[in-house]
Amino acid sequence: MDKPLDAFLEHAAEYAAMKTQAFGVKELQASTSPRQQARLLRILSQVTTKSDDLATVYDFAATALDAAEPALAANAVAALGMAPDADARVGKVFTDWLAASAPSDRRLRAFEQLGTTLAGGPRVAEALAVALSKQGPVRQVALKAIANSTGKLPDQQWRPALRGLLDTDVSPTLFEAITRVKHRSFDARINAIAADKARPAALRLRALLALSDAGSKLSPAAFDLLLELLADAGQAGPRIEAARRLAEAQLSDAQLDRFLPVLMQAGPIEQADFLRNQRKYTPEQGKRIAKAFAQSPQLGTLQPDEVRVAFAKWPRPVFEVMEPAFNAALAATEAKKSKLDALAQEAVRSGRPEAGAKLFAAGQGACLACHQVGEVGRAIGPNLSRIGAIRTERELIESILFPSNTLARDYELHAVVTADARNHVGLIKSRGPDGLVLMDAAGQLQTLPPTTVVSETQLETSLMPGGLDAAFTPTELADLVAWLRSLR
Ligand code: HEC
Repeated sequence: MDKPLDAFLEHAAEYAAMKTQAFGVKELQASTSPRQQARLLRILSQVTTKSDDLATVYDFAATALDAAEPALAANAVAALGMAPDADARVGKVFTDWLAASAPSDRRLRAFEQLGTTLAGGPRVAEALAVALSKQGPVRQVALKAIANSTGKLPDQQWRPALRGLLDTDVSPTLFEAITRVKHRSFDARINAIAADKARPAALRLRALLALSDAGSKLSPAAFDLLLELLADAGQAGPRIEAARRLAEAQLSDAQLDRFLPVLMQAGPIEQADFLRNQRKYTPEQGKRIAKAFAQSPQLGTLQPDEVRVAFAKWPRPVFEVMEPAFNAALAATEAKKSKLDALAQEAVRSGRPEAGAKLFAAGQGACLACHQVGEVGRAIGPNLSRIGAIRTERELIESILFPSNTLARDYELHAVVTADARNHVGLIKSRGPDGLVLMDAAGQLQTLPPTTVVSETQLETSLMPGGLDAAFTPTELADLVAWLRSLR
C-alpha cells in the first residue's frame, strides 16, 4: 500500500481496495507512511459509511491539509471538501491557522482551495473575513478564494475590509473579488480609481467591471476609457473585455457615433461579441449599426447566422441597409475556401517558424488571448504547445480561416437562455449543484444557477472567431502556421 505506482496501477489498486473493503480506519490511524495515508484517505473517504468512522476519516484529513506529501495534502483537501459538515470542520481549521503565526505556503494553498469551494458557508466566510483584515499573502489568498468562488456568498461581513482595501491596497485581485460581491457602497471609490489616469488602463478596466451596476449606463469617463482600450491594438485581453462592457452598455446616440467606427477597426471577436450582447437599440440606431457593419473589413468572417439573428431584432429594412455588403462578403468567403491548399503549400515551402513565434508572442491576431503555448497565453481554447504533432499545415490553416469547420472536442460552444430572457454564449466549464459554469470569449466565468436556466443549445460554431487571418499578411500567415507545425 505504500509503493509508488504508475497512474494506471494506482487506479486499479484503489478500485480493488474499495471493492473488497479490505482497509478500514484502523489502518489509516496506524499508518506512518504519508503515501499510504494518502491512498487510504482517498479510499476511505469514498467507501466509509459508518458515521463514527467517517468522522475519524475527516478528523484525520483536517490534520493532513498541510502535509508535506503533496498527494496526502491534495486528498485531504478533496475529502474535507466533500464532507457534509465541511463548513464547520474547515472553518475551525482556518480559524486555528489564522490565530497562529504567519501560515506556511502549504497552509496558504489549502486555504485558497477550500476557501474557494466553501466560501458560501458561514464559518469559512467568517475565517475569510479575518484573513482579509491581515496583511500580505494571507489577504491575497482570501481575495483569490472570494474571486474564484461560485454560488451565493454571505458577503456582508467582508464589505468593511474590502472597502478599506480600496483606500489602501488596490490590486487586480481586489477588483476580481469585488466583482463577485458587487455592492453600491463600493461604487464611489471605484469610480474615482477608474477615472484616475495615472493608473494602468488594465487596472482601471478591472475597476469598472466591479461596479455594482456593471451593465447598463456608463459615465463619460468610463466610456472614454473603454473606447481608449478598444482602440489599443497591442492589448488583446483588455481590448476584448472593453468591447464586452461597451456591448452591454446602453449607449447614447453620440456615444454610438464614436463607438461604431472604433469597433469596426477592432477584430472579429469584438464585433461578434457586440452582436451577441448588445442592448436594445431603436430601429433608427439599428440602421446606424447596420451601416457600420456594412463597412467592416471583418463582415465576411462573422458567423452568418449570428449576424442574421442579431439584425432580426429590428424590422427587416434595418438588415437591408447592410444586405448587399453581407452577400458580397459571403461570396468572398467561398472564394477563400478554394485557396486553402495553396496557403498550406506556401507554409510548407517558405514558412519561417522563428518569425511565426514572434508574431504569436507579440499578440498579433489575438491568438494568445485564448491559447497557451508553454507558459504564455490564456487557457480559453485548446493548449497549442504540441499542436504540430497532431495537425498538418492544411488543418492548421483551416482552423484559423474557418474555425467552425473543424471543432476541437470539448470546446463546443453553447447558448444558454436564462429566465430573464438573456442569451449567454460560451464554453461549459463545469456543471455542479451551484449550476452551470460558462466561460466566454473574454475568459470570464459566469455561474448560471439551475433554476434560472430555461434552455441550453449546443452550437455548430466555434468560440474562436473566423477571419483572424485578416490580421496577417500571406507571408506572416505562412510563418505562423510553420511555427505551429513545429510545436511538438
Ligand atoms: C476567442 C478565443 C480564440 C482566439 C482569439 C483564437 N482561438 Fe484558436 N481556438 C479557440 C477555441 C475555443 C478553439 C476550439 C474550438 C475549435 O476547434 O474551433 C480553437 C481552436 C484552434 C485550433 C485547433 C486546435 C485543435 O486542437 O485542433 C488552432 C490551430 C487554433 N485555434 C489556432 C489559433 C490561432 C493561430 C489564433 C490566432 C490567429 C487563434 N487560434 C485565436 C479559441 C480562440
